[in-house]
Amino acid sequence: MAKDYKKLLPSLDMSRLPRHVGIIMDGNGRWAKQHNRPRLYGHSAGAKSIRQVVELGVELKLQYLTFYAFSTENWSRPEDEVRGLLKLLRERLIKEIPELNQQNIYVQFIGSEIHLEPEYLAEIRAVAAKTHQNTGMVVNIAFNYGGRLEIIEAIKKLKPEDIASLTPDNFGHYLWTKEQPDPDLIIRSSGEKRLSNFLLWQAAYSEIYVTETLWPDFDKIEMIKALQEFQSRNRRYGGLN
Ligand code: IPE
Ligand code: IPE
Ligand code: MG
Repeated sequence: MAKDYKKLLPSLDMSRLPRHVGIIMDGNGRWAKQHNRPRLYGHSAGAKSIRQVVELGVELKLQYLTFYAFSTENWSRPEDEVRGLLKLLRERLIKEIPELNQQNIYVQFIGSEIHLEPEYLAEIRAVAAKTHQNTGMVVNIAFNYGGRLEIIEAIKKLKPEDIASLTPDNFGHYLWTKEQPDPDLIIRSSGEKRLSNFLLWQAAYSEIYVTETLWPDFDKIEMIKALQEFQSRNRRYGGLN
């Protein structure tokens, strides 16, 4: 069963895969409700889906994957859910390090420092730094991330002499995603058709794929379906064919 996705791989054109895929992992709470379990159980279950997508990314040699793990707006959730999410992120990351290193994956956080305990931030950054010798796929964890805040923080970094030479092409260098290509594809699970403050600047020409599947049910087959759909799109960038 787990190997079934292999049958779908020949349907993909390996020369036209997205360089960068962003994923809005939504629906953990609804999944937990369906299973009569607390919301945090849904968040835990969602971690397995991340592993599946990462493994497929390695197999397909994708260059960048960005997972939206916690938004600047998610602080408005009940305190125990927020605390549970922070704890889960730290624990999963620590647990995954050996496998991430084995797969040559570079992990980094993109997001704000605000509201985070300095010790917590230092710890998760130190854990992610254990992958910084790796040269393969880059995995961004968008954590305490908000697109509007990212843009404002970028503006605050600008020196007066930078402003005169600012262009839509070079502004990206001041963002948390710095030298990375913009996402070609943004996937959102659980049916919601919005960006919820995810990669606002970078998503200008991203193809958007929404699936009804709730995040804990998202797997390699779902990811391949998203990539198939991506390859059927006609990206015009405002021009003509
Ligand atoms: C996504 O699942 C995870 C985070 C936002 C951290 P949700 O927790 O938003 O799940 P739903 O939308 O309530 O189902
Ligand atoms: C977006 O999901 C944020 C993450 C996946 C981390 P939300 O569940 O927070 O988004 P809304 O509230 O439905 O817009
Ligand atoms: Mg949600």
